[in-house]
Amino acid sequence: MENFALLNEDSFEESLGEILQVPQKNEKHTILLVDDEVNNLQLLRRTLRHDYNILTASNGKEALEIVEGKGKEIALIVSDQKMPEMEGTEFLKKVAGDYPDIIKILLTGHLDVDAIVDSINDCHLYQYIVKPFDPEELKLTIENGIQKFDLVNNKTVILKDLRELFYKTIKLIASALDAKDPYTHGHSLRVTMYSLILAKALNLDDTTLEEIETAGLLHDIGKIGIPQKILCKPGKLTEEEYEVMKSHPAQAEKMLMGIKKLTLISNWLRTHHERWDGKGYPQGLKGEEIPISGRIIALADTYDAMTSTRSYRQALSHETAIAEIQRCAGTQFDPVLADLFVKCSAEIRAAKEDPETYYPKYSYLQKEINNTI
Ligand SMILES: [Fe+2]
Repeated sequence: MENFALLNEDSFEESLGEILQVPQKNEKHTILLVDDEVNNLQLLRRTLRHDYNILTASNGKEALEIVEGKGKEIALIVSDQKMPEMEGTEFLKKVAGDYPDIIKILLTGHLDVDAIVDSINDCHLYQYIVKPFDPEELKLTIENGIQKFDLVNNKTVILKDLRELFYKTIKLIASALDAKDPYTHGHSLRVTMYSLILAKALNLDDTTLEEIETAGLLHDIGKIGIPQKILCKPGKLTEEEYEVMKSHPAQAEKMLMGIKKLTLISNWLRTHHERWDGKGYPQGLKGEEIPISGRIIALADTYDAMTSTRSYRQALSHETAIAEIQRCAGTQFDPVLADLFVKCSAEIRAAKEDPETYYPKYSYLQKEINNTI
């Protein structure tokens, strides 16, 4: 458990460095040329070979096999329309389904407006060119197509990087916060993990899962403003000190509400010490007045507090903590959620014992990053 630090400053700086790196330029893009006329193919190859890696095929079927083998390596396709085995439009239509980012240019032998409009729609054509073509004009069209390809791909990469940066940053904040007190090491991450187990058992949608994960990681961020001597005091807090401590949910809201993406979450954070019976703080909200995420985090937070050693007491066993949650269902906790928490008890215990394995399993944000790589 002591080693449960999913991110430290060094790995954060490393990933920040990677993210801010300037993308490699001057790498040649790969273009696939498809034409059954050898002379045409040679002319195209001569025109383009200095600037691009060239692949060639003499019909749609052969070209499709190349696309299926090379996949994302190919940036752009120039295909003739009239070819044996498989026509250009049929081939490009198949490519459009599986590889929408590849730029597609069609060479047609004659100007048939209806056929061209249909193929632009069906194949998501970037451009069509009527034969005989001017090599310089074709070159320019390809250059523009490649620029569009780069733009779309860079946007995807930047969005993925920003998402990763956001996720790693909030994880780092959570770890740094927990590190302020040796007794709360790994607390925010475990609270997040238990909250996600509960949220998944409730079949909440993906957007809510992402928000609950963010809220779980940041739920105690307001403690940044609480003096260390109160936060880490070994004995009981005085009434005055307790009042200061109780300000942390409202401080969390104040800190995050200016960030557009976190406005809703900041409101949730304010509610994670409210109680179902209205005896919580800071507002004394009751029952369903408390947002569901606030009710979920309250359960996860209390379970983790009970099962962790504190300066003033040893950790309670999993069974004792679960019995306490059952006892407080309907007073401190939402009874339905408390019941579900007890039903998920085996999963929660397993996650508590091996958070390094279980956190990535439940993390929605981690899954999203992996999916976009
Ligand atoms: Fe808290």
